[in-house]
This record gives sequence, structure tokens and C-alpha cells, in this order.
Amino acid sequence: MAIIENKKDQTYTLYTKNTMYQMKVNEIGMLIHTYYGNKMEYMDMSLVNRTWGTAFSPNVQDVEKYISYSHEKQELSCAGVGDFRLTQMSVRNTDGSLGCEPRFVSAEITSGKYSLSGLPAFYGEEAQSLKVTLKDKVHDVYFHLMYGVFEEKDLITRAVIVENKTDAKISLEKALTVTLDFPDGEYDMVYFHGRHARERMLERKRIEHSKAVVSSIRGASSHMQNPFAMICDKNATEDYGSVWGLAFVYSGNFEICAEKDHQEKTRLTMGINHENFKFEILPNDVFICPEVAMVYSGEGFGKMSNSFHKAIRENLCRGEFKNAVRPVLINNWEGTYFDFNADKLVSMAHDAAKMGVELFVMDDGWFGKRDNDRCALGDWIVNEKKLQGTLKNLSERINKEGLKFGIWFEPECISADSDLYRAHPDYAFAMPGRTPQVSRNQYVLDFTRKEVRDNIYNQLVKILESTKIDYVKWDFNRHITDLYSISLPTERQGEVFHRYILGLYELLERITSKFPHILFESCSGGGGRFDCGMLYYMPQVWTSDNTDAIDRLKIQYGTSFAYPVRTMGAHVSVCPNHGNARTTPLKTRGNVAYFGTYGLELDVTKMTDDEKAEIARQIKEFKKYYDLIQYGDYYRLLTPFHPEESLYCAWQVTKDDKSEALVCAVRYESDASTAPQYVKLKGLKENAWYTVNDSEEKYLGAALMNIGLFLEYDFISYPSRLYHIVEVK
Ligand code: DGJ
Repeated sequence: MAIIENKKDQTYTLYTKNTMYQMKVNEIGMLIHTYYGNKMEYMDMSLVNRTWGTAFSPNVQDVEKYISYSHEKQELSCAGVGDFRLTQMSVRNTDGSLGCEPRFVSAEITSGKYSLSGLPAFYGEEAQSLKVTLKDKVHDVYFHLMYGVFEEKDLITRAVIVENKTDAKISLEKALTVTLDFPDGEYDMVYFHGRHARERMLERKRIEHSKAVVSSIRGASSHMQNPFAMICDKNATEDYGSVWGLAFVYSGNFEICAEKDHQEKTRLTMGINHENFKFEILPNDVFICPEVAMVYSGEGFGKMSNSFHKAIRENLCRGEFKNAVRPVLINNWEGTYFDFNADKLVSMAHDAAKMGVELFVMDDGWFGKRDNDRCALGDWIVNEKKLQGTLKNLSERINKEGLKFGIWFEPECISADSDLYRAHPDYAFAMPGRTPQVSRNQYVLDFTRKEVRDNIYNQLVKILESTKIDYVKWDFNRHITDLYSISLPTERQGEVFHRYILGLYELLERITSKFPHILFESCSGGGGRFDCGMLYYMPQVWTSDNTDAIDRLKIQYGTSFAYPVRTMGAHVSVCPNHGNARTTPLKTRGNVAYFGTYGLELDVTKMTDDEKAEIARQIKEFKKYYDLIQYGDYYRLLTPFHPEESLYCAWQVTKDDKSEALVCAVRYESDASTAPQYVKLKGLKENAWYTVNDSEEKYLGAALMNIGLFLEYDFISYPSRLYHIVEVK
């Protein structure tokens, strides 16, 4: 049993294979957080929550014992009643007061994982769910705290459903999903910042007595911050120490805040960003705070990552392509940009097919008058002049070359120079009396409105039904400004950001379920929406517009903390690289793209015969290692973020039974007389013998892990090697 209710102590304990999470109802009905960490047989309640009163911390008046909202560790912290720390929920009551004191009402354990209407969430029959219902002391406002427990994956999910059972409307001025109180205060926060073409750069800082905030207010989870962060021991490493990883299953504005309080304890809150947020709940209606997924590891970052990887692969991604072998694709974007016609695309497909490529993706530029990025978004009508015929003609020509056919859309945006905008300028977000901001020459469609979503849905369906389409890339190339919806009254404009995401999810659900045989890849100017929300609808994400193999090391390394290799779109492109003019060996470009979905993004017709032969070799090699890479346990071995430690970046994937592993090592900087380098492998059997790249020599697993694998030296810029480790049986 993953969830245990102890009626005597009034505790609720969630058990996973290695972890334990516990809460307790106290003598006045508050739901207290008692523990989240390594699994223990027995919980010593006398150790829990010991505190004493301090000045300027008000106490709840109608009890004898000193209890202060400002001291208690709580599952749901509310603003307005004396908790001066970070809080999760701000409720504006029917009488205008702001405050809430939730008290225990009931708890219910069910088998299977709860779902959240209209929102993405982890799923699975094997999970168990707990619903703890609390009610405000004064008003009929209920909070249903939802917990999902995936025992084998060490994953626990949380969500909150706020229900208004009063007879008037209330509003939420802050509606986060999680309060997580830690037993003490000595922690670091690790998070992933960046910008376009430089996503998920790792940063680590000490949590002190001021707020550490990771957030987005851009209407998308964004390139700039990722909705995933870790709290860890000050000395935690890849293999050592306590790490709590938290991922938001949401693609819009978010905030993750941590702070050490006046009693030297750390609190974390996480959920929808409360800036520009205010949501009304009508009588008998509910508001759902999106899901947060949590993994605790007592053995460092690596173990936490592997738990997330497995859970995302098996309990978040859905559909036919969740487990299927995905086709090796070629995308024409960096090969042609807007400058193509059907003959050009077919010639690329022709050459690509000979190398073993399986899917051709036609990127931006096939619709309306779109020969540049200044027009036509919103007009999803095939440019038959450019395609020298219908879309069906083109897809059939591509199919004849032996490739499947895929296509690009940017459904959420609209160009001012489009027929759709001329007919419906009100479809785009704009504030009364202001000219909306342009970004990449485009506006954002008001997806809070059903008629706007329906218009786009119908256009997309028409295209997708016009011929056989096997793949769709769903792009989003700007952030949201001019937030105002004509569909909502003045006092409800604070709902627009969230309603936009709900609208997007509704459309994604409709489209992906109507076309279950299409492989969908999410994209937002590269990896601007790489989050668990999008992964629920689309099992892979274009990781970054930066295709330089060396920059990609950091991007893919950072991404790997939460997200599995199988979700990371990664392509081989041309050199000098279009983003940074760097030249890297073709082999290194391939080796780095293997640790993603592997594909091509260049004009193959311009490649030399040798280069074509190298790509053909890579496709074969990638397929040989496909299962190992896509489903193996993933280990970060050498970081690209610390050149002072090593000039190599290395990662490893290992088969479940430890009988086989693949290591990729890339030298990302050069110096004269480079020092010899060993890399310590992980996750092998200590007492088994292994060969390396079919070597005659055999190496003991323990030696490969304790002394390390010797990295061969190559006297070129940016060399890389794969090392295939196989157990000798
Ligand atoms: C941004 C994407 O990340 C690129 O791969 C490409 O699809 C362009 N948009 C097309 O406009």
C-alpha cells in the first residue's frame, strides 16, 4: 500500500520505493507537513514540528497551546491570517476580507491516479491517490488537496482544487499548488535559466533570508527560466546528498520561490505566477491549481533525474509514439529557410532517403504568401505556387522517395498582414486604446475565446485531412503582451493568462486525439516551452534553435536534469554553424544528437559523398543503440559547465540489467598538451567484466567506476568518441 491512513495519530503517509512523505492533522485541525525524505519504518512524532513562540508571531487565539501560522509547517499555507512567510493561497472572501484558515474535513484514498479536468497530469493505474479535504474555519470555501503516489517511480504529485460552496463569488489572488516546508534551513536551490538558443543553463545558489525566485510572466514557461527546480543539501552532488526535484506540469506563467525564514527554516512555494493573476470562483464552481510532480532522492541529482525520466516517459507522455520507435527525420529549416519550392524539397528527400532518413519535415513557409516572417500566420492555406501543386502532390512525391511527410504550424499566432487578421483584428490580444507590441512581426491569438480556437482548429483539420501527414511541428515564436480579452469583463482580466493556457490545452487535446497517428513535436523558438505540460500532449520537444554541437552539450545536459533523452529534439546541422559560426566534426555533431531524437537539419543535396556516407553510418549506429539510448538509465559523468574541472563533457546510458552501457565523451575546449583524462562510469556491476568497443582487454566493473575509463586523445578540435561497454558473460 502506497498510502497509509493512521486514524489514531491522524497521519497520512505516502510511501514510494525509497521515499516517504507525511502529513498530520493537529489538535486544531490544521494539516501539518511532518516529513519528506528517505523512507523510514517508523515516524517518531515526538520529533516533529518542535518549536517555541517568538515575538511578533501571532498565535491562533482559541487554543490553549501556542500555535502560530507563522511557525507551523503546513501543507497549505494561506495569506492574511498571520503567516508572514511565503504563502501559497490568497483568498478574497465574499465580504472582501483576505484570509483563510483551512481545517481538516475528510480524507479519501483511491486506487489509480486522479486526473485534473482540462489540465495535463501524470497518469497511471498503478498509482494511488489521496484526497484530503480542508475547509475554511469561517466561510464555505473548500480545498481538496490531491496527492498521487507512483510507488515504483519514487514520484509524488500534488494539485489543489479550490471549491466555492458559498452563495457568492470569491476570488483567488494567489493560487499556487505547493507549500513545502523543510526541517531546517541549509539548502541550495538549483534551477535552469537561459535565453533563445541558450536554454536551461544550470545555476546553483544558497537559499538565504531573502526570496529566491525562479519564474516566468511571459505567458509561456519560457527559454529564460524552466518550471523545474531542485532544493538540495549544500554539499549534494550527482551521487550524494538529499535532493528534492519539483516539476510544474504547466506551460504558462509560473513561480518557484524559496526562502529561509526567521526561524532558520526553508519554505518553498510553487505554482502559477501570482503576478497579473486574479481568478473568480462562482458559487458551486472550482478552480484547479495545476499539478506539481516531486521526486526526492537521498543519493544526489542522478537518481532524481532517472526517476523523473522514467515517470515522464511512462506516466506523462501519451499516445502511439510514447513507446514506438520514432522515425529519423530531416527538417528543411536550416537547409532552406523560406527559400524553397516542391522540387527543392523533393531533391532533399531523395538524397536523405539514400542515407536512411525516414521522415521529411517541411518547416515554415508553405502557406499564404509566407516567403519571410512578416506575413501570413493565421492563413493556413497551401501556397500551391510555391509547392508547385497541392499539398497532396507534394506529400505523395515525398512518399515516393520512401519518406513519410511532416509539416510545421504556428497555430497560436497571427500576422497583421494576413487575411485572418484583416477579417478579425479582434482575434489578437490587444489592450483598449493601445497598439499591441509586435514580436517577430506577429501577435498572439486570444485562445481564451472558443471561436478563435475553433477557427484555427478547422483550418488545421482541413490541412491535416487533405493528405497523409505523419508528423506535425507545433511552434510558438513570441511571448504574450497586451494581455486583454474582449470576452471577459473588467474585473476578470486577471484570468486571461491562465485561460489562454487552458484554451491551448483544450485545442491540443482536440487535435492530438483527432489525429492519433501523427507524431507531434512541440517547439517554441526552440526550447521555449520545454515543460511537463507540453509533454503530456506531444512526446518530443525541439530542444533549442541552437544546433551547434558544443553549445548543445550545456543545453542537453541542463535539460537532462528533469527531462528524458527521448523527449529532446536534436539534429545534425551544417558547419560553420548558422548560430555561432563554429565548425565541429560531423561525427561530433552526430554523437551529440544521438542523445536526443537524432535527425538532420541541413541541405543534404550540398553534402559531399563522404559526408553522406558518414550520415548513413550515423543513422545505422543510432538505430543500433536506439533502445539503450532511449530507455536506458542516464548518468551525467562530466559537466560542460566547469572547464576548470575537465575539458570534456560526458554522459552515459546503461541498460536496466547493467549488462551494457554507452558513453559519449566530447572535448569542448582545447589546450596545448591536454592532460590525460579518465572518466568514472556509473551503474555497472562491480564484479562483472566488461569489454570497451569490442576490446580484447576486459575491465572490471568496479575498476571502470572507481578508476575510470581512459578517454582516447584525438588531435583535432572538438573531438568526440562513443564507448560501448558490454558485459562478458
Ligand atoms: C522557430 C523554430 O524553433 C525553428 O526550428 C523554425 O521552425 C522556425 N521557428 C520557423 O519559423
